Amino acid sequence: MPTTIVIFGASGDLTSRKLVPALYNLMRAGTLPAETRIVGFSRTPHSDAEWRAGLRESTARHAGGGPLDEAVWNRFAENCFYQPGDIAQAEDFAGLADRLAAIEGAEPTTRVYYLATAPQFYEPVVAALGGHGMADESSGPRRIVVEKPFGSDLVTARNLNTRLHAVFNEQQVFRIDHYLGKESVQNILALRFANTIFEPIWNRRYIDHVQITVAEEVEVGRRGAYYDSAGVLRDMFQNHLLQLLMVTAMEAPVRFNATAVRDEKVKVLEAIRPLTSDEVPAAGVRGQYRGYLAEPGVPATSQTATFGGVRLEIDNWRWQGVPFYLRSGKAMSCRTTQIVIEFRQPPLELFAGGRRSFQREANQLVIQIQPAEGIQLHFHTKVPGGGMRLRYTDLEFSYSREFAGRLPEAYEPLLLDVMQGDASLFARADEVEKSWEIIDPFVRVWHSGGMPPISDYEPGDWGPMASVEWMAAQGRTWFDQCPVLT
Ligand code: BG6
Repeated sequence: MPTTIVIFGASGDLTSRKLVPALYNLMRAGTLPAETRIVGFSRTPHSDAEWRAGLRESTARHAGGGPLDEAVWNRFAENCFYQPGDIAQAEDFAGLADRLAAIEGAEPTTRVYYLATAPQFYEPVVAALGGHGMADESSGPRRIVVEKPFGSDLVTARNLNTRLHAVFNEQQVFRIDHYLGKESVQNILALRFANTIFEPIWNRRYIDHVQITVAEEVEVGRRGAYYDSAGVLRDMFQNHLLQLLMVTAMEAPVRFNATAVRDEKVKVLEAIRPLTSDEVPAAGVRGQYRGYLAEPGVPATSQTATFGGVRLEIDNWRWQGVPFYLRSGKAMSCRTTQIVIEFRQPPLELFAGGRRSFQREANQLVIQIQPAEGIQLHFHTKVPGGGMRLRYTDLEFSYSREFAGRLPEAYEPLLLDVMQGDASLFARADEVEKSWEIIDPFVRVWHSGGMPPISDYEPGDWGPMASVEWMAAQGRTWFDQCPVLT
């Protein structure tokens, strides 16, 4: 069946930097389903030809993998159409419906509506689609993709779910979190559930704690106004960090399908110990990089955190007593996303030569999500020669060394999944609501002066000193290492 992808917010950044390059790359790789058309809807007045010319230029810049393949691009561009229109004008949706009918003809077609607009337009678009009967599935599946941010707290996320469900049923809704499209995130599922050697030790008996870090070197830049109202908790924790936590902590699903996978992920969220406002200050640490207040769009007195560290406890049989430390920040020393599973100390320090502490040298499994993807296992070996001198060393698996060719960008597999109707890697309504329930208390306390004054840090640090001290007070150390794999 042919597919039409209708992009709302067609003249925005997401469309030109991510969505269209991803679709073009799928075509170049030969995996874009035949007869896929892309229809852009936005207020800017463009003709098809003008839109295609703009996309050609942005795709050449953002698609990666060398120069644009002219033959592929020409085939791709033939199927890109532009419909100018205003989300607030009912007649513009009637115009869109007519245009889609003209492009698709009478043949049943899968239609994917992609909300790539600013979030305040999500609800009006959904209502207008409903009002024009455009969610009706009598002439083919109708699906809607909702970008982050999905609400700004539990109440707004619930409202958005209610509005969506008034027009689409849950099976038609795809809430995207691009972290789930990253190869190495999906590989966590393979690592855990396609092997027998990790699962037996993946629990409180062997693991001391887990650290999940998403460090970014970039500063806030032009996104100051948005960022200041979101802060690191809403921008990174509610979505990407909790997703990484869920795939690390979930039980094996009984089947690899959307319902079973998401059931297990939601159970992890349900097991996270809720915190009262009094408990929140000790369960986290926050910081702001020096220079943030001078970013355009940021108020001079802003207390918004550009760095956050949070400790969550999962109250279930597998994880009881194993803290999960989540941390993310802008203007950090390097760009790296990693999950560190730190194992317990050996029961007996046979080779410690009287040293009591092995703390810094416990076995660690480092799952590096980006920039380079792979896994590193840290362990002790004997140094050759006399005596029992030990050294910390590692075993390594690197995607780029193992598999030739470029790894797909996160949006590529996710867009294919939407076209095929597979929602396994998308957040379900209850999942986003639960995530907000976990993050909301932190947002409330961090934004309402219930914390010690925000600490600052120098761009290029691993967050503020307060973060180091907070971890040290718990007898632990952050894994402050720039990508261990290159
Ligand atoms: C986005 C956040 O969701 O993820 C950005 O809004 C952040 O602030 C980005 O920079 C990080 O994505 P990635 O894939 O570069 O790690």
